[in-house]
Amino acid sequence: MAEPAAADGPAPAERAEDAAPGVAHHGVVQHGVVQHGLTEAEVLGLLADGELTVHGRLADASNATLYCQIRGEGSTAACVYKPVVGERPLWDFPDGTLAGRELAAYALSRQAGWDVVPPTVYRDGPYGPGMCQLWIEADTTVDLVALARRTDHQGLRQMAVFDAVVNNADRKIGHLLPVPDGRLYGCDHGVCFGVEYKLRTVLWQWRGKSLPEPSIRALRRLRESLDSGSLAGELACWLTPAELTATQQRLELLLEHKVHPLPPSDWPAVPWPPI
Ligand SMILES: Nc1ncnc2c1ncn2[C@@H]1O[C@H](COP(=O)(O)OP(=O)(O)O)[C@@H](O)[C@H]1O
Ligand SMILES: [Mg+2]
Repeated sequence: MAEPAAADGPAPAERAEDAAPGVAHHGVVQHGVVQHGLTEAEVLGLLADGELTVHGRLADASNATLYCQIRGEGSTAACVYKPVVGERPLWDFPDGTLAGRELAAYALSRQAGWDVVPPTVYRDGPYGPGMCQLWIEADTTVDLVALARRTDHQGLRQMAVFDAVVNNADRKIGHLLPVPDGRLYGCDHGVCFGVEYKLRTVLWQWRGKSLPEPSIRALRRLRESLDSGSLAGELACWLTPAELTATQQRLELLLEHKVHPLPPSDWPAVPWPPI
């Protein structure tokens, strides 16, 4: 099955520096380089244009989350396909789609150089348009409960910063996808980008603590690309103007205070169930 793809992007030197120390970029797994002989762009091409075959529905998923195979010319991968038609309406996310917000989360993570979100595209499929995301073969030897409580895992901390920017309302333990080389991916970003502060996560261990310097640099990069329009244009495809403005405001706040946020007082701070 497919391994996670490495990302390429605008500032490779900074991005390498921002990666968690101790993360082995062994063999072909490096930012901007290839994986299984495919660049990130090629993985995106495979996801977008490959032939999608549904193999089953993920048992504990709350929406129609389908495990699929994607077959292109000379390459095959496993992926997740979430058709928009399978989305349950949510009172607090009346606009847009869960699939679209997953795309916005991917674009933002990639622009920041965090690569928290596996390569994701929006495409048509057997049940209509939806999101299609590379399946990450997670390291099943990792104790996810213990991982979620770590305070010394920089990839996890980076994910907490990402969640603060996107206002993730559903960072569960089961949404952590550690891979054997030490990197950490996350999934299920459909309930991000709410206008109200709704951060709901199992990663509160850094609340009120100063943001690490690499995170501050990444946040500045994000602010630039939101101001100069490149990321703003992409996010505008998936988010409402109010959600986009709220994202810019969260970035400003994080850069002003330079601390991990505190739990909201009027909203459950931890998802239920947390796993
Ligand atoms: N890209 C992915 N790679 C590997 N596992 C995934 C991926 N996306 C989802 N999963 C697994 O499938 C489960 C259900 O998917 P999720 O996105 O959480 O669906 P739902 O929106 O229905 O809750 C996740 O908890 C995770 O274990
Ligand atoms: Mg889920």
